[in-house]
Amino acid sequence: MYRIFPLLCLLTLGCSSDRATTKAETPTVAAEAQAPPEREAPKAGPAPEAPQRTGDPKAGYQAILDAAYVNCGVPSRLYGGAAILGLELGGAPAPGRADSLPFYLSRLKTRSGQEVVGPNCLSCHAGFINGKLVIGLGDTQQDYSDTSYMVSELSPATLEAVSALAFLSKGEQAELEKFAQRLRTVMPYTKTAVRGVNPADNLAAILFAHRDPKTLKWHDKPLLEPPPSVVVPVDTPPWWRMAKKRSMFYVGAGRGDHARIMMTASTLCVDTMEGARAVDKVMPDVAAFIRSIEPPAWPWSVDQKLATRGRDVFEDNCAECHGTYRDDPGHTYPNKVVDLADIGTDPMLARGASQFAHRFIDWYRKSFYGETARLEPQKGYVAPPLDGIWATAPFLHNGSVPTLATLLDSSKRPRFWRRSFRSRDYDRDAVGWRYRTLSKGHRAGSGMNRSLYDTSIPGYSNAGHTYGDSLSQSERTAVLEYLKTL
Ligand code: HEC
Ligand code: HEC
Repeated sequence: MYRIFPLLCLLTLGCSSDRATTKAETPTVAAEAQAPPEREAPKAGPAPEAPQRTGDPKAGYQAILDAAYVNCGVPSRLYGGAAILGLELGGAPAPGRADSLPFYLSRLKTRSGQEVVGPNCLSCHAGFINGKLVIGLGDTQQDYSDTSYMVSELSPATLEAVSALAFLSKGEQAELEKFAQRLRTVMPYTKTAVRGVNPADNLAAILFAHRDPKTLKWHDKPLLEPPPSVVVPVDTPPWWRMAKKRSMFYVGAGRGDHARIMMTASTLCVDTMEGARAVDKVMPDVAAFIRSIEPPAWPWSVDQKLATRGRDVFEDNCAECHGTYRDDPGHTYPNKVVDLADIGTDPMLARGASQFAHRFIDWYRKSFYGETARLEPQKGYVAPPLDGIWATAPFLHNGSVPTLATLLDSSKRPRFWRRSFRSRDYDRDAVGWRYRTLSKGHRAGSGMNRSLYDTSIPGYSNAGHTYGDSLSQSERTAVLEYLKTL
């Protein structure tokens, strides 16, 4: 029965410390961590306004918790049995839900009529700050760097043994096997080099590769060449930015009907057009909820005079890209995509890695998604709205910079750094995670565990965005104070 515990970890493709135990191991970072550039995108430009479907935010929140968009998981009885033995995954219940399941799991009826417990959007899109669960904050604790221990747990032999022990019915066994089989397929493409970053772009790519775009039918053998197994890491963005953004994703790729794009998680187990259309019906509500989220307010005191001075510095140096944050109707947000050559941050994603390679964009165009949405990745990065920026450390699209103080002064950015992953280890002065600078990275054989962020690994660079460097130290201090108020 002990095997069921790791099996449950599959529900989130890994187990994080605020949720359950994690293993600390010596890293074996792939030296080949180099996804070749695959695409020449047009020069970056702002996304045009696209009409969005309207929806009901309240219904959207309930749908995120209860709707069958992922449509697979561990049979509910098996989860229940593990819970009786005290083996359930840890985690706070979701605010406003009667079921005591952890917030990142949903209990749902699959289209075959079985009740299962499976992961939901909040497994990536909810996080802890200062000990508090924030719905819509990108999770930065999950550890996708070591999934090897799951391989044996997913083997048909293990599943058979578990099924027998738990007296699963044929229907339940079929659900368990389907979930495990999908995870076996995606796991080799979701391993990151360090803890805290997210492999979702590669996950989408491998799922697209296994589906017929016209029918969404699943094929065990990929129909398209899979993405490279080396993940291009991203820092999961906060949901509240969607109130201002005209495109989705760091490279501004998500165009057209955002609600349709947001249901990409259903490419794990929704296998028919009929199923996809049913999910699509609830997505405008989900999108409306996402647009309605307010960022959390800075919970500590602010030096108002200093912040006001910082606002002037910000409006002179930063607002052309990030907009202004005065009370309505005074605020602006230009939805700018900044060319890779100007921004200078890690180039991998903007060069067309993962789901942004040609063949996946083409798959998307021909698919159910292409009916109302498009993937149009730019050769650059969106300058994001900075609302609630204090809560979203670490910074840049790959989470390579631990604090705002170091974002604003590139000479102070640590090359190798480690944080504790406890959400209370927050540095109010530097605005971000407390971290320690280390002298060696993975490739120098530091022997440290993967909570060490090594910016020398391709995809993980902390270069670029040097706009704070030319400010004086007192201007930087003032901007930092101002950023706390957004
Ligand atoms: C496995 C983790 C994971 C799951 C599950 C997941 N997402 Fe995401 N999501 C991400 C990551 C990572 C990004 C950023 C990708 C990028 O920009 O390249 C993202 C981006 C987004 C964005 C765009 C944000 C922005 O600022 O551009 C929205 C909206 C979103 N997801 C909604 C959802 C919804 C709704 C669900 C559930 C139906 C969901 N996601 C499930 C990881 C996940
Ligand atoms: C020329 C346009 C431009 C200017 C000027 C600019 N930024 Fe940015 N900023 C960007 C872009 C683009 C990104 C995203 C880069 C990435 O993730 O690779 C970004 C990212 C950021 C982030 C991190 C966001 C996150 O989610 O991690 C912060 C904070 C930020 N900028 C603050 C500032 C401040 C403060 C200034 C002024 C001192 C400034 N920026 C000036 C374009 C700009």
